[in-house]
Amino acid sequence: MRIIQITDTHLSPSKPHFNANWSPLAQWVTDQNPDLVIHTGDLAVDGADIEDDLAFSAKLLNEISAPVLSLPGNHDIGHMPGSAQPVNATRIDRWREMVGPDRWTYDSKHWRLIGLNSLILGADSPEEEEQFDWLEVALADAEARRIAVFAHKPLFVDTADEGETGYWSIRPAPRQKLLDLFAEYDVALHASGHLHRGWQGMHNNISLVWAPASSFIVGDMERDMPGARILGAAIHTLADTVESEIVEIDTLSRFVLDDVIEEVYPRAKKAPTAETTI
Ligand SMILES: [Fe+2]
Repeated sequence: MRIIQITDTHLSPSKPHFNANWSPLAQWVTDQNPDLVIHTGDLAVDGADIEDDLAFSAKLLNEISAPVLSLPGNHDIGHMPGSAQPVNATRIDRWREMVGPDRWTYDSKHWRLIGLNSLILGADSPEEEEQFDWLEVALADAEARRIAVFAHKPLFVDTADEGETGYWSIRPAPRQKLLDLFAEYDVALHASGHLHRGWQGMHNNISLVWAPASSFIVGDMERDMPGARILGAAIHTLADTVESEIVEIDTLSRFVLDDVIEEVYPRAKKAPTAETTI
């Protein structure tokens, strides 16, 4: 099974700054003729608050001829409790109505794909507990299939034992819970977006992949992190093993968030420590 992972398209009819990268991305995906496309979130510039942003993004995604499964990003359904746009039932319901489920499984003969809603991890909410219960069942009843997990946020940025990274990755407690479950069920791949950087690594026996965004890179406004500042996608080939390739797509325009932050995410500009942007 050949999967194209796209991520962080940040589309909007009212803030069209990155829309020009949609057509060349969609063309590249079509040319690849994949079995499945997975969008790992941040479809929209501001789907968490603007219904039209989510509708616009979902409509464009539906134009892809291959089957598409999507997962929410923080700009689609909100983020941590206490942030300017916390995840809540209204936002999750809007996603479910306009895009699809916020978590899912997808089976082929030899593989089970699991899509997680990573924005509720670390919230200590009933939704988080419910998703962990669901995940354990999804892992346990995969039978002989190998397992690949997809989510918006990476498990960690620099090291698996790092502390709270706030906005950037999953908090230490739910991260450890995930790592323990993934080890128990021999998960082969964890593929994510969110950081707008392309990176691959291994942790224990899990292949970790950050697919690059197709919308923009982030310049010096943010601290340096692992991975390449490129625009593109990832290709995952699942057979006896998993092979992942990060691809830079040279037909995408190299937009830089720093240049337009005041227009696109003005609230983030005003309070960079409380509410970062990507
Ligand atoms: Fe993003």
